[in-house]
Amino acid sequence: MSRLVIISNRVPAPVKEGAASAGGLAVALKAALEERGGIWMGWSGKSSENDEPRPLSLTEEGKVTYALTDLTGKDVEEYYYGFANRVLWPICHYRLDLAEYGRKEMAGYFRVNRFFAHRLAPLLRPDDIIWVHDYHLIPLAAELRQMGFRNRIGFFLHIPWPPADVLYTMPVHEEIMHGLAAYDLVGFQTDHDLENFAGCLRREDMGDAIGDGRFTANGKIFKGGAYGISIETAAFAEFAKKAGSHHMVQRARQSVKDRDLIIGVDRLDYSKGITQRLDAYERFIVNNPAHQRKVTYLQITPKSRSEVPEYEQMQRTVAEQAGRVNGALGTVDWVPIRYINRSVSRPILAGLYRLAKVGLVTPLRDGMNLVAKEYVAAQDPEDAGVLVLSRFAGAARELKNGALLVNPYDIEGTANALARALNMPLEERQERWRRMMDYLMEHDVSRWRDDFLNDLTA
Ligand code: ADP
Ligand code: G6P
Repeated sequence: MSRLVIISNRVPAPVKEGAASAGGLAVALKAALEERGGIWMGWSGKSSENDEPRPLSLTEEGKVTYALTDLTGKDVEEYYYGFANRVLWPICHYRLDLAEYGRKEMAGYFRVNRFFAHRLAPLLRPDDIIWVHDYHLIPLAAELRQMGFRNRIGFFLHIPWPPADVLYTMPVHEEIMHGLAAYDLVGFQTDHDLENFAGCLRREDMGDAIGDGRFTANGKIFKGGAYGISIETAAFAEFAKKAGSHHMVQRARQSVKDRDLIIGVDRLDYSKGITQRLDAYERFIVNNPAHQRKVTYLQITPKSRSEVPEYEQMQRTVAEQAGRVNGALGTVDWVPIRYINRSVSRPILAGLYRLAKVGLVTPLRDGMNLVAKEYVAAQDPEDAGVLVLSRFAGAARELKNGALLVNPYDIEGTANALARALNMPLEERQERWRRMMDYLMEHDVSRWRDDFLNDLTA
């Protein structure tokens, strides 16, 4: 079996498979690497002071080599913060208004991709299968092809892909589209993203879908598909079952005694719709006085990409908003919103999801949204909670038969869905949950990985 080479901007620490701290994606990809042997390459997360040389730091773990590279401060500024997170991230999340184009940042993005390709090249064997992840590294295959590599190379985009009208506002859209066409397989989260991609090819007569999941562009044929990413459903459910004994989860349970818990868990990111969600919760409380002092909304939100001005601004906006709602609606013995700016460990998170009667997941746009899937997997079948889910999350396409779907821009509608969730009879909650859980047991992260790799190697 050929070796597998994975490249992603962030590389998880080389901890053992199944370790409590590792997310499902890391566990699933590590399992594939351990089976085939291979390399996981990416950025170390550090920036070095001087420009060169930046040797790869190699760590061997059984048959897997972790290859990490530092970037210079300028690289991080231009490639990571500048182009990846101030151009591609907003554009792919349909936020034209937030995209900040700069020639320097665009050049930095392509330069760092070339640098990755040059660092990777000496480690590659001719029959290695290469799998590149996410928007930071779209041009990587084109760089490798230019260096003469003929390996199978696949790409998976973890975030949404926008329609042509949105993408083509980006000055270097052509280079980005050519970058994607250099892969043998391009994977998206949903059919909708895949259709948008086909539309982008057609718009400038660059290529088209030609059936059977194949596309043409630049006189070349390549494959494209939708592969919805998922979680380790069974393992996460097991975590949640056991999490009740954790003292933090016990303390949380004690603190919400006699109250219904609503939970929101997201990176502090404008795509997650946190401000609209807080508005909807406030509206729900105002519209439903019977629920006053009977609910607690816990929003767990670690800071993210704080050097990007929009994210920094958001930290202030959300903190002020939570403070304002608590000030306006709180009473001497009730705080309506508990707002926490930290990560929590996966076992505790699983326990908190299970405590919550409602999982409130309302991104304005999201590639998939794993929190929605984790919330479902963590529920107690005897007393299942309700998932209130944005129709603009990739997960909505998979969980629509069980979740209450909402339009996160419709504050009144989301407030009504919250009321419906909290008043839902047990039988309906169980039925809805069972439909989602059956789907997630069948479509877990291992299946996502295997479907993608089978198509790439076929
Ligand atoms: P994104 O990848 O955009 O952050 P997802 O919902 O797809 O959104 O994935 C987020 C992942 O990060 C989930 O696995 C979730 O459990 C984890 N996560 C998010 N917030 C926290 C938090 N406060 N503490 C621990 N894990 C978190
Ligand atoms: C999303 C992206 C990932 C990214 C993660 C955290 O899930 O798809 O590629 O790693 O957000 O963002 P960060 O910028 O901290 O890596």
